[in-house]
Amino acid sequence: MEQAGRFITLEGPDGSGKSTQAALLAEALRSCGVDVVLTREPGGTPLGERVRAVLLDRGGGVHTPRADALLFNAARAQHVDEVIGPALRRGAVVVCDRFADSTMAYQGYGSGLPLDRLQAIGAFATGGIRPDLTILLDLSVRAGLARRVAGAPEGITRFEATEAFDTAYHERVRAGFLELARREPLRWRVIDADRPPGAIAADVWAAVSGFLGLAPRRG
Ligand code: TYD
Repeated sequence: MEQAGRFITLEGPDGSGKSTQAALLAEALRSCGVDVVLTREPGGTPLGERVRAVLLDRGGGVHTPRADALLFNAARAQHVDEVIGPALRRGAVVVCDRFADSTMAYQGYGSGLPLDRLQAIGAFATGGIRPDLTILLDLSVRAGLARRVAGAPEGITRFEATEAFDTAYHERVRAGFLELARREPLRWRVIDADRPPGAIAADVWAAVSGFLGLAPRRG
């Protein structure tokens, strides 16, 4: 296979601390001399960031789940072609904050779109690039949403602030992630994210360094 690098994704419900953990992980890998590309979805490219603004803006009116699924995948196609694919081909470790599993969890399990159709659209968008390792930062919906409310207001997205995405929706998303992890236990590692960032980071590092075969970190 042409993919020489390693593709690591972080997934989880809103407020699980993925962005913090992705940054800490990238920094730890760099300090081991690893060539790392840190990126995120939706976003990761100029086009992707524009699509992100459309997707997450609270003033954008009602989106149908199918429109959302296609927009997330449009941004993903650009991201794979422009950033992730080239980085993997040159042998880098790509750390991505959310990827195709988020579409399965949110638009599939959350909004009820058929998983097989989403899988087909996702395969088209990614060109078959799949994560080698996926870390699920799992925490209760209540704890996740409480963290978001306590955070910066500009960080609140349409998925957290709109009635259509109520607690039951977020419960389905969380259960969906856990189901995806159960289906592919070799790819996924589930980590309890209802703990201080340092404790979570230690578990993320143990999972990733073990997977990449890196020596234990000193100090
Ligand atoms: P973001 O600010 O990245 O949230 P978080 O910090 O929780 O990761 O916003 C991304 C939102 O978009 C989040 O609520 C999850 C949602 N999402 C989908 O519904 N489908 C997708 O395919 C992706 C990538 C994200």
